Amino acid sequence: MKNLLITGGCGFIGTNFIRYLFNQPDFTGRMINVDRLTYAGNPENLKDIEKMFPDRYVFVQADICDPEKLAGIFDAYDIDTVCHFAAESHVDRSIVSPDDFIKTNIIGTFNLLEIARNRKNRLRRFHHISTDEVYGSLGNDGYFTETTPYQPSSPYSASKASSDHLVRAYHTTYNLPVTLSNCSNNYGPYQFPEKLIPLMILNALEGKPLPVYGDGKNVRDWLYVDDHCSAIWEILRHGKEGETYNVGGDCELENITLVETICDAIDNATGKDAVKARRELITFVKDRPGHDRRYAIDATKIKKELGWMPKTPIEKGIQSTINWYLENDNWVTRVRSGAYREWIQRQYQTE
Ligand code: NAD
Ligand code: DAU
Repeated sequence: MKNLLITGGCGFIGTNFIRYLFNQPDFTGRMINVDRLTYAGNPENLKDIEKMFPDRYVFVQADICDPEKLAGIFDAYDIDTVCHFAAESHVDRSIVSPDDFIKTNIIGTFNLLEIARNRKNRLRRFHHISTDEVYGSLGNDGYFTETTPYQPSSPYSASKASSDHLVRAYHTTYNLPVTLSNCSNNYGPYQFPEKLIPLMILNALEGKPLPVYGDGKNVRDWLYVDDHCSAIWEILRHGKEGETYNVGGDCELENITLVETICDAIDNATGKDAVKARRELITFVKDRPGHDRRYAIDATKIKKELGWMPKTPIEKGIQSTINWYLENDNWVTRVRSGAYREWIQRQYQTE
């Protein structure tokens, strides 16, 4: 792996993956991070990496929906490996406004696949990052395996399902050396504060209401982001071409239990304010339309075949995440600010 193209490396998981990889002694190649810099992408997350590895890290602002620019990047940097994170990723936004989800998640993935297919002799691996949401909702029992039929509920999960099918079709039809991973809910540093965990942490710190959808009994399987990064790294190095790997944290929690845990951890970290404990901020609100009830991953395949295991217990992961948001209030202020976004766009605009 000499020239690794990362798409969406300025987002939550992409940022953590790039940071993770530069800490791995067996990664010696160059990384080209291509990101459009939507509201969810922040190249400043990687400023220190850029300084530490000036010959091995390159950032290019580009839209994966622009095939000409993408093809130029593949040729200019002689890309041999692709790790595809870029996506519109937030379910609630996909319900209000699905257009960008269709464009980026489906058309953007198709563009990458076509460009990769036309350079197949140079390409060693195309890894596609996907989600457990493609499988739809579980009842009280059972787990998603790699052979569970797809039944996506939201425009987001339908667009990811579509991209997964395209990636597999490019393997079957054109023999493109693909791998896929379908992962459960990630949490950790650099997550945009629209997703459940950072939103609850910040609202709790700011004494704002904590909006829990429906009855709060929907279940998600939580995975600390570094554990997702280690799974992707295993698959990139040792995963079998054409194969899909489910990745999960063995950590099913009802939303309400998780939110209460966050409240208590913040009370402990910062002290209860004079009036009320954070749990009293919990407010049940109207449910998300099409809200999947339960997700749970069976990760036996990646554990048995690649020896991967999730390592971070939820208590430890939540505590580190709270600490990170406490220590990085500047980051939070910036990513929430429209003026900062405009500044970023001007700084990083590339022809
Ligand atoms: P994110 O929203 O934090 O980051 C997405 C990144 O993609 C941003 O930097 C954004 O600027 C970039 N991007 C968006 N549209 C683009 C385009 N057209 N061209 C180039 N770049 C573009 O998302 P995330 O949570 O880091 O998720 C990364 C990937 O992992 C996604 O494919 C998502 O479906 C998948 N995933 C996420 C989770 C999770 O819990 N967050 C779980 C499983 C799988
Ligand atoms: O399962 C993997 C998926 O996890 C990823 O593919 C998605 O990119 C990622 O966004 C995440 O999707 P979810 O919809 O599960 O994550 P979210 O953080 O939006 O919500 C988690 C749960 O919390 C879900 O049941 C909805 C609920 N929720 C969410 C928010 C934002 C609330 O109750 N209140 C909230 O304010």
